[in-house]
Amino acid sequence: MAGSGGSKLGAFQYTKCKMDDYYAPGRNHLFVPGPVNIPEQVLRAMNRNNEDYRSPAIPAMTKVLLEDVKKIFKTITGTPFLIPTTGTGAWESALTNTLSPGDRIVSFLIGQFSLLWIDQMQRLNFNVDVIESDWGAGANLEVLGSKLAADTGHTIKAICIVHNETATGVTNNLAAVRKLLDHYQHPALFLVDGVSSICALDFRMDEWGVDVALTGSQKALSLPTGMGIVCASPKALEASKTSKSVKVFFDWKDYLKFYKMGTFWPYTPSIQLLYGLRTALDLLFEEGLDNVIERHSRLAKATRLAVEAWGLKNCTQKEEWFSDTVTAVVVPSYIDSSEIVRRGWKRYNLSLGLGLNKVAGKVFRIGHLGNLNELQLLGCLAGVEMILKDVGYPVKLGSGVAAACAFLQNTIPMIPSRI
Ligand SMILES: Cc1ncc(COP(=O)(O)O)c(C=O)c1O
Repeated sequence: MAGSGGSKLGAFQYTKCKMDDYYAPGRNHLFVPGPVNIPEQVLRAMNRNNEDYRSPAIPAMTKVLLEDVKKIFKTITGTPFLIPTTGTGAWESALTNTLSPGDRIVSFLIGQFSLLWIDQMQRLNFNVDVIESDWGAGANLEVLGSKLAADTGHTIKAICIVHNETATGVTNNLAAVRKLLDHYQHPALFLVDGVSSICALDFRMDEWGVDVALTGSQKALSLPTGMGIVCASPKALEASKTSKSVKVFFDWKDYLKFYKMGTFWPYTPSIQLLYGLRTALDLLFEEGLDNVIERHSRLAKATRLAVEAWGLKNCTQKEEWFSDTVTAVVVPSYIDSSEIVRRGWKRYNLSLGLGLNKVAGKVFRIGHLGNLNELQLLGCLAGVEMILKDVGYPVKLGSGVAAACAFLQNTIPMIPSRI
């Protein structure tokens, strides 16, 4: 895992939990906050042979995909790149194309993924000005404001922020960051990790003046891992013309050259992922992006009600930061949360997210993102209740499920064709 060789932040423990393999009947209940369930339609669409990506069919398909993918970022002016990589590669693509070594970046350390991105920035030789918060709190925008106010010489070249910190279930307010940049008329680039937010939370690239937004295929898009989707604003593309960072595989110029030629691919894309992306987008558009966001909000609220009914605490310190894609649940100090995850896996065929690094052993995470419905979530909540009882927590079986059911029954929208 990242964070060992060469890290300036030192070695960090990633997980305390050792899972052993075993056979279990039925479907695994996958409730880690990514990778998430892949819908049947997408699995079927990907079940195909390889194709020649230089045939007329793949460029034609790519052209439409590139237009359609802009909708998930809510951008008209952005230029998307579909890169064979993961979220970590998408980070690197965003940084190395827009910045030069030594450039000053302001970034926020609020959990494991913001930490890993900062670690990457440092290893790429950027000069990172870190604003740290408690794990469970959001980005400290007051400190950002004072840094922007003091930076009259515009030494800050970029603000980098993780929209949704997957380790703690914290969603940052991107509109507020844009407001501060505008207030101080600061020209810094605005780079956003939307790995566990885009396609699930409200995200408005153009309206919020985001310069680079990025996500990974295995999160809310509900695809297999392996595609990093990066979208650059005209200002980011302009910056890429003068950026001096070394990059080869991630160089946007190669993509742009092939875009111009109409062949689109500087190197071999995964044909199966392209067909999967086509279907994933079709499903999202059929449901309606706003309805998808609303569904995530409903499932998240139901999860939080269950946590409350169990008498447990949300790791997220304030309501304004509650994440609608992942809930990190704090366990009492006499329980090791890794044991909850291990039991879920071993006894109930339920995959929950571990607590990472600083919150290892203290929280477990319920991912509620991607192609997911209410009854699937209720299955997960029922599983969590049984596990809590197993590990000696005095939970009333059915309490969380009942709270979630009561809320969901009143809020699930009626689908006209099914009434
Ligand atoms: C917010 C966030 N950013 C970045 C990453 C890294 O993505 P990947 O594991 O696909 O490299 C993750 C992974 O979970 C994440 O949650």
